[in-house]
Amino acid sequence: MVNQMDKVILAFSGGLDTTVCVKLLEENYNLEVVTACVDVGQPKEEIEKAEEAAKNLGVKQHYTIDAKDEFANEYIAKGIKANAVYEGYPLSTALARPLIAMKIIEIGEKENAKAIAHGCTGKGNDQFRFEAVIRSMSNFDIIAPIRDLNLTRTEEQEYAKKHDIPLSPDKIYSIDENVWGRSIEGDILEDPANEPPEESYAWTASVEDSKNHTTKVAIEFEEGIPIAIDGQIMPLFELVEEANKIAGENGIGRIDTIENRVIGLKSREIYEVPGALLLIRAHQALEELVLTKDELLFAEYMSTKYSDLVYTALWQEPLRDDMDQAIDNMQMRVTGKVVLKLFKGSMTPVSRESDYSLHDIEQISFEDKENDQKEVEGMIKHHGLQASIYQKLSR
Ligand code: ARG
Repeated sequence: MVNQMDKVILAFSGGLDTTVCVKLLEENYNLEVVTACVDVGQPKEEIEKAEEAAKNLGVKQHYTIDAKDEFANEYIAKGIKANAVYEGYPLSTALARPLIAMKIIEIGEKENAKAIAHGCTGKGNDQFRFEAVIRSMSNFDIIAPIRDLNLTRTEEQEYAKKHDIPLSPDKIYSIDENVWGRSIEGDILEDPANEPPEESYAWTASVEDSKNHTTKVAIEFEEGIPIAIDGQIMPLFELVEEANKIAGENGIGRIDTIENRVIGLKSREIYEVPGALLLIRAHQALEELVLTKDELLFAEYMSTKYSDLVYTALWQEPLRDDMDQAIDNMQMRVTGKVVLKLFKGSMTPVSRESDYSLHDIEQISFEDKENDQKEVEGMIKHHGLQASIYQKLSR
């Protein structure tokens, strides 16, 4: 059991859930609250909002942890190499959760805390993701006050009012944002019958408002990781920001889907993931050039399994690490350049080059005389031999 004035580290965003959590942890659990906000590329104002909110709540110690490059290099890079997409969603929130949990654990150790708390409700996937990592990588107690008390959003607002808790100006939707994507949930979006209003989007132009001319974008990869965009070499974090901008203004990146959550519920989800979709499309286009047919088939199978592990909070599963190693081995040849043409929500690869290309222009050409066409005749005679024997039988 936790003793009075033991410390708890709260993963804190300054939004309604985590703000209410600060007071609940103090009043109902008798804990000293240390708040921590992990920067994985959410807007600067969000980071500042968390700092401000912690101060207004009288929190003695608040941490802001810059994990932007680590998120890009250790998590997004793996997501790109695996083409990690769950039911069409490139896992922006899901990929960030294990890293956030690891950072909170580090603070917990530094602060000699007794417990770690999060503001997740009992409905979503994030509670699984946080707790899987905290449980397997530390011995902290875990507290989820909103879930514990079965609070609704309205009850949280009432609690805040009753306890004079200063709330940051309310957002209509529940938004989770990092450099890999923006997820928008709640309010009228909960009903799949409602078309999302234009103002729910922030990163992407509508098809109507997107550019009226095509844009070409060149992406260079080294061992499966994007290293340059339009000839400019840059760290992955900045490259993803750039990809978000270019794809977003061309109307690429909106997803409106019915998602199958871990607990079995179906939920209507809206995402803006322009950079993620662009980079994964480019990556696949390069893989098509350099990997064999069998490698591509197997990569696709791994991709599905990998994405499912990431989505369902099984980042710690050894199979994920096993697959990372297999994928890294394949990615050694995924080096080269892809150009895509973007226009009003569409993106089409129009050029691919690689020193590891398996495409043999000499052999495939209609102008080739060197490789005697007649030689294939014997192969054709025996192709589908069993099917042919079967058909003859039934004639
Ligand atoms: N449904 C997505 C996922 O499970 C996004 C969750 C967004 N989380 C949030 N707290 N708003 O990864």
